Amino acid sequence: MSTILPPATGLAACHLVAFPRIEDRRGNLSFVENNTQIPFAMERVYWLYDVPGGAERGGHAHRELEQVVVAMSGSFDLVLDDGTISQRFHLNRSYVGLYIPRMVWREIDNFSSGSVLMVLASRPYDEADYVRDRTEFGALAR
Ligand code: TYD
Repeated sequence: MSTILPPATGLAACHLVAFPRIEDRRGNLSFVENNTQIPFAMERVYWLYDVPGGAERGGHAHRELEQVVVAMSGSFDLVLDDGTISQRFHLNRSYVGLYIPRMVWREIDNFSSGSVLMVLASRPYDEADYVRDRTEFGALAR
């Protein structure tokens, strides 16, 4: 008898995504397509750059948004927290992304000089989708 498990949520659903790599002496190439390498259709791409030393970004969760974060250049750390457990991820490869489902708190720090952080996002920008208050997040995540 097979058991149907509910879809994973929170930190259990966070995972690294390896994008295809076309290796070439002239330089390597990677790509991403909707619903293939990532489990959603992208509706927005944004990126962080010119991040000063010691800066911290993030500090919020999203009610519905799903994201894949990629270190397109350099490196940084993402600290993810689903209200129960927390885990630090170090990203430093342009062919590896980190999938973050809805309702996971994220802090981003330890940016290397010249780093570029790209986000593939499942929805357009909507401030109402943000949970920016840690106490509210704790209550919603319970
Ligand atoms: P925010 O998501 O809080 O930045 P981070 O999580 O990287 O620290 O966004 C910073 C500001 O930029 C905020 O005022 C909203 C604005 N913004 C947009 O207008 N569109 C977007 O797609 C994003 C991601 C942010």
